[in-house]
Amino acid sequence: MNLSPALRATGTYPFVKLERAKRRLAAQGVDLIDFGKGDPMEATDPAIRQALVDALEERLGYPLAEGLPELRAAVAQWCGRRFGVELSPEEEIVPTYGSKEAIFLLAQVVIDRDSDKRLVLTTEPGYPVPDRGAAFAGADVEQLPLSERNGFLPDLDAVGDDTWERVAIVWINYPNNPTGAVAPLDFLARLAQRSREHDFLVAADEAYTELWFDEPPHSALEVREHGNVAAFNTLSKRSSMTGYRSGFVAADAELIDALKQFGPSVGTAPQEFVQRASIVAWGDETHVERVRDIYRRKRDVLLPVLQSKGIRVAGSVATMYLWLEVPGDESSEEFAARLLERGLIVSPGSFFGPAGEGYWRMALVATEEECRRAAAILEEIL
Ligand SMILES: Cc1ncc(COP(=O)(O)O)c(C=O)c1O
Repeated sequence: MNLSPALRATGTYPFVKLERAKRRLAAQGVDLIDFGKGDPMEATDPAIRQALVDALEERLGYPLAEGLPELRAAVAQWCGRRFGVELSPEEEIVPTYGSKEAIFLLAQVVIDRDSDKRLVLTTEPGYPVPDRGAAFAGADVEQLPLSERNGFLPDLDAVGDDTWERVAIVWINYPNNPTGAVAPLDFLARLAQRSREHDFLVAADEAYTELWFDEPPHSALEVREHGNVAAFNTLSKRSSMTGYRSGFVAADAELIDALKQFGPSVGTAPQEFVQRASIVAWGDETHVERVRDIYRRKRDVLLPVLQSKGIRVAGSVATMYLWLEVPGDESSEEFAARLLERGLIVSPGSFFGPAGEGYWRMALVATEEECRRAAAILEEIL
């Protein structure tokens, strides 16, 4: 059968390997504590769930790709309150089905595969979706390493002018999965300036802006006057709503118009009842404060044992992830496999790219009680 070469090149999504190992150990009766995938286990706020139920009408037609005006207004107001930016709900926002698909599909809308300007820069270790979306769109893809010594920021000065000239999109993801690092405003401003100099789009995956421990992180929207910026955000992590599929893209009118033109070819906005629930979610911060508190408590259970065992915590100032150095001279996969045999599911850093080797990631999704049990196991085996 003929298959897309881009599909063949993707290989197995690394987390599928973890799922298989999980099933094997569960069948053997091993008690598993899951710090693997970043899927929040917390209950969604009752008011959000009720809004969904209330909107479940007798008949629901196709949702328009541009989404409900009330949802776009709620998102614009949230961006205003949270980042101090003014966005037009009609022209500069489009609701999306979670953020993953929008991230994947961006290159389809932006890339001209016959042009010399078809390079997409992504960062690694990282979320693989921007790379895959770009590959399926016929773009060239290059990954910029995120090194700890550079604060897990890409080194913009290491990219030559001839490369910048070929760049159509630069993907960044701050707060960053997997490192938990955040981007200072001056880095975002410098990148935005380059986007104007070299005529590319900064695509900022901001799925984790609301999960932070000390200070609220910045959005690339705050530097949009310096360049071409599109921000992708989502209720998945902020409001523990991964199953609802609700996010948005905020960008200049020209890109939003292009996304609205493209949208009806591939699908629709989220179901109307999800959009109604989303309006409630974007309008409330108290449940988000509770969500942050929960992650903070779990982190506080785990950090002391990790630190007492000399495990260095890198990045990890935001997101739901701890990015930790692998002790000794084991590879990250060997180390994760050792923890797995004791029932602790963590992700080896190498899952996220070559620059992730030497680290491991704990997603703080297990319950607080499970975190306490995990701390006891770590105490024993590290
Ligand atoms: C970095 C990053 N971006 C985007 C997403 C997508 O989230 P969603 O499609 O649920 O909005 C995830 C999910 O894990 C992620 O880790």
